[in-house]
Amino acid sequence: MKRRSIVLALILAAAATATSPVRAQSSVAMYSDNRIAINVSQAEKNQVLAEMREFLHGFHSINIAMARQDMKALGIIARPMGGLLDRMPMKLKERLPEEFTQLAIAMNEAFQNLARDAETNGDMRKAHENLAEVMTYCSGCHDAYRFNVTAVKGRK
Ligand code: HEC
Repeated sequence: MKRRSIVLALILAAAATATSPVRAQSSVAMYSDNRIAINVSQAEKNQVLAEMREFLHGFHSINIAMARQDMKALGIIARPMGGLLDRMPMKLKERLPEEFTQLAIAMNEAFQNLARDAETNGDMRKAHENLAEVMTYCSGCHDAYRFNVTAVKGRK
């Protein structure tokens, strides 16, 4: 956890430096995209983005469970959400940058903490805190990476 926090802090610091608007520059420069590109096939991109959109459905369900103070449901919803890496195409997983993988692993841990705490102590403040931690990994990864579709031989 500690090591991952350090990894995350480094990535976020790099991303913040890379994306901060440059003073007295054209809007093109101000909004230049400095995220690290990960080459993917169109099919890989489609699959992972579908997973990403599922996260938003999951967050919707999480919010409903929290509003109803249904901690059992919260655990049931949150636990399977964490396994992003398991749902990634195998060929893509092998090419992912190490830091990307670390962020996905750390996000999974945060989802498991959310589920475990919801089921064991049912503390709503803790649940919100855990959810906020999950979201630092969503935004941390988005700040740092983008997909770049390339046609590479041997890939679908
Ligand atoms: C380990 C990296 C990583 C993590 C963690 C991650 N994402 Fe993403 N997500 C991406 C990448 C890469 C893209 C594509 C960005 C691009 O190419 O512009 C993306 C795209 C998305 C999109 C756009 C989908 C579309 O159809 O265009 C949504 C929505 C999204 N993510 C939601 C989430 C949420 C919510 C979480 C946290 C629960 C999350 N993501 C966690 C890497 C990640």
